[in-house]
Amino acid sequence: MLLLLVLSLLGMTFAAPTPTEEAATTTTCHALIEETPWTITSLTAFDAAPGYNGSFVTFHFCDVNAGLELDTDCSRYLPSGSSRSPIDPDTYYPCDSNDVQFIYAGSSLTIERSYVDDCLGPSPYNSAIAYGTEDTSVVNTTSPTGNTCSQAEMFVKITEES
Ligand SMILES: *[C@@H]1O[C@H](CO)[C@@H](O)[C@H](O)[C@H]1NC(C)=O
Ligand SMILES: *[C@@H]1O[C@H](CO)[C@@H](O)[C@H](O)[C@H]1NC(C)=O
Repeated sequence: MLLLLVLSLLGMTFAAPTPTEEAATTTTCHALIEETPWTITSLTAFDAAPGYNGSFVTFHFCDVNAGLELDTDCSRYLPSGSSRSPIDPDTYYPCDSNDVQFIYAGSSLTIERSYVDDCLGPSPYNSAIAYGTEDTSVVNTTSPTGNTCSQAEMFVKITEES
């Protein structure tokens, strides 16, 4: 839309653009921007009690930014017998989409999302990574088999891009 307007303004100003000018106009592009916070829904983390199995963390990730729209599920299931906490503040775990990974630190959730934008330059300079960390506010329910922390929805602000 904006490009059309610019093109038509150029057309009015310069009656007959030379081929070189036309080429210059069409190579102008607008880099994609991670701006609107990512939406995290159905965050659930189960911490199996000692002697029980099945610790996990799962949630759904949604990016609504123009040109960057992406929906994916993220999960990490701990092996049977490990009885370990799903909280691991030092390690990124992959989502179903290879472009998204996460760190679940219990009190916070960190997301890293990579994407390709040919506006940034030729490959391999056409890739970017965006990050965000947000505090969780989970509801904790305890049962004999373990604790379940859940949060219906949260928004992760994008604080850094590289
Ligand atoms: C947990 O998994 C281990 C290994 O598979 C198994 O031996 C054990 O019985 C399981 N414990 C429970 C409480 O299900
Ligand atoms: C959830 O509750 C249990 C039992 O009160 C507690 O041990 C655990 O630390 C709590 N977890 C979180 C993340 O608040």
